[in-house]
Amino acid sequence: MTNGITMTNAVIDCILSRSSTKYYDPTAALSDDQIRELVRIGTTAPTSFHLQNWRFIAVRTPEAKARLSPIAWSQPAITEAAVTFIVCGQLADSSVVPERLAPLVEAGIMPAKMVPEWEIPARDLYMEYPQRQRDEAVRTGTFGAAAMIYAARSLGLGSTPMIGFDAEAVHREFELTKDEVPVMLLAVGPERPGNWAQKSRRPVADVLHLV
Ligand SMILES: Cc1cc2nc3c(=O)[nH]c(=O)nc-3n(C[C@H](O)[C@H](O)[C@H](O)COP(=O)(O)O)c2cc1C
Repeated sequence: MTNGITMTNAVIDCILSRSSTKYYDPTAALSDDQIRELVRIGTTAPTSFHLQNWRFIAVRTPEAKARLSPIAWSQPAITEAAVTFIVCGQLADSSVVPERLAPLVEAGIMPAKMVPEWEIPARDLYMEYPQRQRDEAVRTGTFGAAAMIYAARSLGLGSTPMIGFDAEAVHREFELTKDEVPVMLLAVGPERPGNWAQKSRRPVADVLHLV
């Protein structure tokens, strides 16, 4: 950084060195346990009111990839990456708050009387507002995907977030429920050579307003 301030550690190195992968090793696979572990890490990302309003469909067999590819612009990553996640966000629904908080109450982390203090504002924030419910689904899926992207990078795996797909067709083909939004596709897997290094960014002065 400028002004003599340098921030560095392994996490920052991981963030600074990530780029979207174009070329995957098409012969590489991830085990179902590795896929589960990536999703477990992804689901430690924050969600509004601890809603955890997400679901991940791991497209990893040749048959499943063949179903996804034609409805995702035939992007090579879908057939070549070890796995492509359909990252689904679920419309924010305050009625799930007690169930989502129950493990915290049982563990003695959260007092039981606090549960309505989360559920009531969540109800007031979302339940009459479909746009906010959908916005939250997209935010949740995006946070989860971001955590998986950096976890993948730290494990030496490439990743590619993708919005180039037919959302209605993916919804239908992979039987998303009516409260689920396909937020993005996220390809993950070992790379093959030829990928670009991280692209330069807009200057901080153009994107930061200090007030
Ligand atoms: C929401 C989103 C959607 C994207 N969709 C696609 C896509 O459909 N196909 C693709 O090849 N890259 C896609 N990308 C990758 C972007 O092009 C890439 O992130 C951007 O050029 C910056 O490069 P970097 O990720 O290597 O830093 C997407 C990225 C984001 C965040």
